[in-house]
Amino acid sequence: MKIPAVKGTRDFYPPQMAVRNYLVDGWKAVSLRNGFEEYDGPIFEHLKMYQIKSGEEIASQLFSFTDRGGRDMAIRPEITPTLARMVNQQINALPRPIKWFSVPRLCRAERPQKGRLREFFQWNIDIIDVEDVLADAEVIFTAIDYLRSTGLTAADIAVRISSRRMLAALLRSAGIEQDQLDGVYAVLDKKAKLPDEAFEAMLTERIGDETVRRRVAELMAAETIEAIENTAHLDAEGAAAVGELRRLFDLLSLMGIGEFAVFDIGVVRGLAYYTGVVFEVYDRAATLRAVCGGGRYDNLLRDFGGPAVTATGFGMGDAVLEILLREKGLLTDSTLSTRNVDCFVAIVADEFRDRAIELVFRVRRAGACAEFSYKAAGLKKQLKQAQALNARYTVIVGEEFSENRLTVKNMATGEQELMAVEQCIESLLA
Ligand code: HAM
Repeated sequence: MKIPAVKGTRDFYPPQMAVRNYLVDGWKAVSLRNGFEEYDGPIFEHLKMYQIKSGEEIASQLFSFTDRGGRDMAIRPEITPTLARMVNQQINALPRPIKWFSVPRLCRAERPQKGRLREFFQWNIDIIDVEDVLADAEVIFTAIDYLRSTGLTAADIAVRISSRRMLAALLRSAGIEQDQLDGVYAVLDKKAKLPDEAFEAMLTERIGDETVRRRVAELMAAETIEAIENTAHLDAEGAAAVGELRRLFDLLSLMGIGEFAVFDIGVVRGLAYYTGVVFEVYDRAATLRAVCGGGRYDNLLRDFGGPAVTATGFGMGDAVLEILLREKGLLTDSTLSTRNVDCFVAIVADEFRDRAIELVFRVRRAGACAEFSYKAAGLKKQLKQAQALNARYTVIVGEEFSENRLTVKNMATGEQELMAVEQCIESLLA
């Protein structure tokens, strides 16, 4: 009986694993150079963790199960609730502010499509206990810092920024009640992802009053921050939120990434816990889904039973990122190696086999990577094998080995040199 792979999951054969490692290594390097420390949590949590404050969408996409003690569990669809739980648990012991990163494997029961899978990896960057919008700027910088390191430029991608705090003030002025806000956010987040009619139907379901609905549509059409300042009735809270957004754009310019940043009132985010600045990174052509999304969530730790401690961060998935990098020619399988062979040990005749085995394992004991042929083969065939393995050198064991010497062939230049065994090992380690 043949059992197929599960829909929406991926098998990582060595070439795919090389891509995954390339992405994850880049994420980790950029996290560290921006001052973030790595953490991780369990792959499953109590189901209610994702029902408290993540919102309807994620709650409907959970892979959940009942354990043998009858407890309801879910595989993590995101790591932010785990982060909130972990920080709350040690809130008095942890030095603050907290700057942490993680690369969790996540599962969401989504309909698999381009860039959307049922299992994926997501880079997370979060800063906890910095109320200043400077922290929002720093997490956005970190996302762009990574994306730039892959070769992407401001011509390829943009970070679209808005503010839930501003939007809440605007929606209230349009006649939306406080307790309607979460439901309205969830629909507005869908605007770009749904056909107009479907969107209208959803909005009508949430906002029965036609006048209110028209006002909401008008304010969502604002293209610039100035347009919001000029036309809408901003209360003090709304004006403060706009001031904060302006400061954010100034900070991004100061940080040298101003050209990546655009205001977009349509960025609302699907998760329910965001309270302030929200952002998503898209390809400029906007043909793909968001590469990355995040924002400020100042109430999540409190909602999880902890003190009122502020937080901001983002998640970047590997799936859309890989598609984007391939489309831009910044990722090709041939640029990534699945192994790193320093030297291939070849023999001129079968009588040298034991000498070769001795040498291979001596090189490995010394800390370099050596390979050899399991089967007897001619020198030409062995050199081909070395080439296929992308070995830096081929070391040829022949008659000179009795005088402690070897022929070393540089596979890139084709140059050959006779060397003492010790000298050969030393240069391999260099
Ligand atoms: P999210 O918008 O749900 O946010 O996901 C962030 C990113 O994860 C998306 O932009 C996308 O790249 C990737 N992603 C999400 N779902 C899938 C999927 N089914 N398949 C492939 N990639 C996917 C969050 O998860 C927040 N917890 C992020 C955050 C951290 N906010 C603050 N801190």
